[in-house]
Amino acid sequence: MTFYSLLRPLVFALEGEAAHRLSLAALKRLPLSHAAPNDPLLATRVAGLDFPNPVGLAAGYDKDGEVPTKMLALGFGFAEVGTLTPLPQAGNPRPRLFRLVEDKAVINRMGFNNGGQEAAVPRLAAVQGRGIIGINIGANKDAVDRNADYATGVRRMAPLASYLTVNISSPNTPGLRALQDEGALAELLAAVRAALPQNGPPVFLKVAPDLEPADIDAIARLSKGQVDALIVSNTTISRPPLASRFAGETGGLSGAPLKSLAQQRMIDFAKATGGAIPLIGAGGIASAQDAYARIRAGASLIQIYSALVYEGPGLARRINTGLAALLRRDGFASITDAVGVDVR
Ligand SMILES: Cc1cc2nc3c(=O)[nH]c(=O)nc-3n(C[C@H](O)[C@H](O)[C@H](O)COP(=O)(O)O)c2cc1C
Repeated sequence: MTFYSLLRPLVFALEGEAAHRLSLAALKRLPLSHAAPNDPLLATRVAGLDFPNPVGLAAGYDKDGEVPTKMLALGFGFAEVGTLTPLPQAGNPRPRLFRLVEDKAVINRMGFNNGGQEAAVPRLAAVQGRGIIGINIGANKDAVDRNADYATGVRRMAPLASYLTVNISSPNTPGLRALQDEGALAELLAAVRAALPQNGPPVFLKVAPDLEPADIDAIARLSKGQVDALIVSNTTISRPPLASRFAGETGGLSGAPLKSLAQQRMIDFAKATGGAIPLIGAGGIASAQDAYARIRAGASLIQIYSALVYEGPGLARRINTGLAALLRRDGFASITDAVGVDVR
């Protein structure tokens, strides 16, 4: 029994977004400062960055960069803040966040609610250098020129970011995912590279799981030499069978029902990139076994969000402990040795 299993009924009695806000407020006040020691087996180098362990916080939990160091203290090897847009934005009307308890899933149509990049700058400047903190950037809903919004995000946030994530895969900003189309993506990546300062941070690209084989090949091809890692994946607009009464809500689905699709997309991208670009796995990872399977399918790092809702704040530590045991059991001396062994 974990402390969170006692707290969980209280958290679930609250409306989804209220519970999320409460968890952020609690983290801000908690005196967490020292990260737990990491098993040396879990240390890994990806895109020129030294990660103490491969388990990251996915974007969307800490959109405004309020608690990244607290997440690192909870045992995450890296924390991704955002999505941050150039201008502050209210997002969609509420309710817009639904917990599908029977499915261990979440549906969200937040719509990039955030306080804007400018407001986040001082907060992120204050924690710079205290671990790997990625900044995920997006475009405002009413942007006339979306590429210009990404360029603004790159220029503004690059000096503060361990890495930047170009998020073109949220289903909740109309038309955003069309940036994954070949012509649009080529232009976007050119705009991003042009905006990146010399000696700027690595740039990651975050894609949707709802892609056809031809899209995957095009993204893999265009990404070579232009992005330093691909994050596979964001939430899905598909609807596998679900039991919860919220199953019909519009938005992106994440958590357990996304796992098999995200695992398959990891395999697809591993094959399409042939090891030329590091891959970061996200989608339905809730245990050390899930993390290990994603790594064996091609992921150099993994990220989690939805499982935190169901498993609580001790999850990153538990995954790391279990992952080190699985690697040792199978005779791997490092994460890198296990990356993609199932797809070779
Ligand atoms: C409530 C919520 C908000 C999210 N917001 C963002 C976001 O702002 N930017 C982004 O790139 N991904 C966002 N995501 C997607 C997650 O980062 C992740 O890719 C996805 O949820 C799959 O992982 P999971 O199954 O572990 O949750 C959000 C997910 C959830 C559940």
